[in-house]
Amino acid sequence: MTIIAPSILSADFARLADDIRDVDKSGADWIHVDIMDGHFVPNITFGPLVVDAVRSATKLPFDVHLMIEQPERYIADFARSGADRITIHAEACVHLHRVVHMVKELGLPAGVALNPSTPIQVIEHLLDDLDLVLCMTVNPGFGGQAYIPHSAAKIRQIRQMLNERGRTEVHIEVDGGINGETAKLVKEAGADVLVAGNAIFSRADRTAAIAELRG
Ligand code: DX5
Ligand code: ZN
Repeated sequence: MTIIAPSILSADFARLADDIRDVDKSGADWIHVDIMDGHFVPNITFGPLVVDAVRSATKLPFDVHLMIEQPERYIADFARSGADRITIHAEACVHLHRVVHMVKELGLPAGVALNPSTPIQVIEHLLDDLDLVLCMTVNPGFGGQAYIPHSAAKIRQIRQMLNERGRTEVHIEVDGGINGETAKLVKEAGADVLVAGNAIFSRADRTAAIAELRG
């Protein structure tokens, strides 16, 4: 069963709650919330106050993707603001194991995100602690970028590594450039959570867009 997580980075920020309600009734499974700090990535979005403000728009889980340096400083704030799961970037943490456990100690499932150039071996010793691996399929920072073709091979390697460890229930999430075509490639490679911004929010018929991604 594929999980579809619309990225609200591509929503209309002036009517964010309405756009969240709209993708909820269009069949979304999770709401993907992109947090950018202008340091780890060359863009800035919003913080816990905004997450808290839109939290009541839906009962769907908030899948919070922290593209920020020193995420350990803000994890508790995002948990309080209504995050249901938190994903941090391997590249942003000197002590990745410690930060993963900070998320778990708050009672939330923890994910680790890998930039396109980051080798999958960085999570090899963390596989027993993770609920989700986020394989970035673009360089993070902006919506509407093109899917990087090598990603499917990387997803296959992650799925194989998880299978060998008996961690078949760990989600593999993909994020960036996912549309009707690339969705097929990543699902076939082993991804089960598809983030999509542009492919959902640029469409008038979001129910159809989500159904196409689900396939
Ligand atoms: C990229 C973000 C993504 C982005 C995806 O830095 O993490 O979640 O919004 O947008 P699309 O689907 O338009 O590539
Ligand atoms: Zn994201």
